Amino acid sequence: MATLNTANSTKKTMSERSAKAAAVAKAKAVAPDLEARIGSTPKTKFRGNPDVFGRLVEDHDRHRALLSMIEQTEGKSRDREVLFNELTKELKAHAAAEEQALWSSVLRNPATTDDARHAISEHKEIDEMLADLAARDMSSSGWLKRFAGLKDEYLHHIREEEQEQFVAAEKHLTPSDLRYMRGVFNRRKKEEKAAAKVEKKIKLKD
Ligand SMILES: [Fe+2]
Ligand SMILES: [Fe+2]
Repeated sequence: MATLNTANSTKKTMSERSAKAAAVAKAKAVAPDLEARIGSTPKTKFRGNPDVFGRLVEDHDRHRALLSMIEQTEGKSRDREVLFNELTKELKAHAAAEEQALWSSVLRNPATTDDARHAISEHKEIDEMLADLAARDMSSSGWLKRFAGLKDEYLHHIREEEQEQFVAAEKHLTPSDLRYMRGVFNRRKKEEKAAAKVEKKIKLKD
């Protein structure tokens, strides 16, 4: 029995590892010369899962990689511009598709309304931080400092989703709901990303 457990856990670890590696490779394709080190990530049981949560964590890992790559860029370089553009479109499309595929259903259930409301309000905050960064001078020394604020906020958001809100939501959704949601997410993410625009707006209140 012990041998079987070890075999299962090894298999699970491998699929988690390959799910993470595939997500990082997608980010790296944007600027192949930069390292994409995301290091250790907060523990989640969803990485590599075939349902909507596995798909969402795959995007989160891709975003973790993009955030770490932007931190390695300097001044108003082409890499910084291209990566920030990609990050903005990724985060906006991911948030919108996540709201349409998952949070809209979670919001309708009184047991999980607060979780959905929390996630959606953070999406709005992240959107405002992205627009603020887009409106500021990328070559200034303060840009990367402000960017660090966005990185902290986003890492906090996805950690909470993976460890708290997805866990709570899962209890109220059936396996077929979760599979269906993955399909909706994939379709909407593609459409939202194609339509996503980088908006520039200084955030007056910090
Ligand atoms: Fe989210
Ligand atoms: Fe998310």
